[in-house]
Amino acid sequence: MSNAVENTLFEHPILNVIHLLNTIAQENPAAISLASGRPDDEYCDPALIDKGLARYRQHIASTELSLTTLLCQYGKTSGIINEIIADYLYVDEAITISNPENIVVCMGFQEACTLTLLSLFEGGGILLVPDPVFSGVTGIAKLLGIKMLPVPMVTFLDPTALRRLAEELESKGEKIRALYAIPDFSNPTADSLSYPAREAMLRLANELNFFILEDTAYRYFRYEGDEIASMRSMDSRRVFLLGSFSKSIFPGLRMGYVVAPEGAGVMPFSARLCKAKSLITVNTPALCQAVVGGLLIENNYSLKSLNQPRVLSYTQKRKHMLECLERAFPSKGDSQPTVTWNHPAGGFFINVHLPFVFGQAEMNECARDFRVIVFPTSLFSVTNEAVNQVRLSFSNATATQTTQAIGRFKTYVESRLGKVPS
Ligand SMILES: Cc1ncc(COP(=O)(O)O)c(C=O)c1O
Repeated sequence: MSNAVENTLFEHPILNVIHLLNTIAQENPAAISLASGRPDDEYCDPALIDKGLARYRQHIASTELSLTTLLCQYGKTSGIINEIIADYLYVDEAITISNPENIVVCMGFQEACTLTLLSLFEGGGILLVPDPVFSGVTGIAKLLGIKMLPVPMVTFLDPTALRRLAEELESKGEKIRALYAIPDFSNPTADSLSYPAREAMLRLANELNFFILEDTAYRYFRYEGDEIASMRSMDSRRVFLLGSFSKSIFPGLRMGYVVAPEGAGVMPFSARLCKAKSLITVNTPALCQAVVGGLLIENNYSLKSLNQPRVLSYTQKRKHMLECLERAFPSKGDSQPTVTWNHPAGGFFINVHLPFVFGQAEMNECARDFRVIVFPTSLFSVTNEAVNQVRLSFSNATATQTTQAIGRFKTYVESRLGKVPS
């Protein structure tokens, strides 16, 4: 008798992307990695742990609360720093939270997203996602058996095209339950939604009665242009705000949160989120919450000044990578350039278009033989979109590494073009 478990869902490549990103560099130690969107090691400062914890202890000492109970016991499911996060969202984002219990402190965005999907999709419905997009969302949606509709990024960014698609879907009797968006500097393509596109998306959500899941992971990292209001600050009734401290403090904390929609007549989702959380992680580690809470208090409920040196550094890194790309692949007068890329106003990534297909096999070949790791954008697609694109991350490479990595990548591209008949 076989005790083999059927593996179908778990074989889906989208479920392997985060693991692949976290291991590919270790598997190719001689290669320079531009693959993972890690924040710069230089700013992942362990001293922040002591600083945050000390400030939180001081904060608790000025209250009636017991540090022993708060830090050492099982804790309240929704979290122990909800009020601090509410103040922080007001200071940095002009978001007013009427009840801090509508915030659930989570183990990173990943848990926030999982709980949100669980709380929303019990009765079925469709999740609209841009395509390609961060596999943290599409992977967990697949695992939970949620029906997704991947929307090509050009359609997603165009309010008229998006409305047409959504209305067509609903006219066929399909119900859109939620739409996932990274309005500021998406992963992997670093696209952003304009203010009018955000307004139009919210209008559509209100008309067709679906929710927006707003992921703000890269929001602090704008290198040019004016800040655009977050969708949650524009509409508190329609938007689940999914926040992460992975890029704005550091990812080892595994800290994030979800803010449930609020307003008269709005379903109180926080009870559902907490029930799901109590069965998945019970509560978010109090020590990690204390570090974040203390750092927020210490910084007057804002992460802007803490992140200012990072923003300056990433601005330089982005500029340097763009210059390296220009040197490696100069445009030749009138003829069509063979390699092109975008110039994102923020985020951690530059997305490059190649004149040939670049998938996982090519990534492995490039890492092994050319000692540079670049990540196929198509691995973030659930429809095998973007097959000739690669995502380059500039966030955690030094200038020297970037120069060398782009040089090696140029050699790889030239070798491929030499093989391709003209
Ligand atoms: C789009 C997006 N959202 C969220 C996150 C952060 O997730 P977490 O808070 O689970 O580290 C990332 C990290 O790569 C991301 O790219």
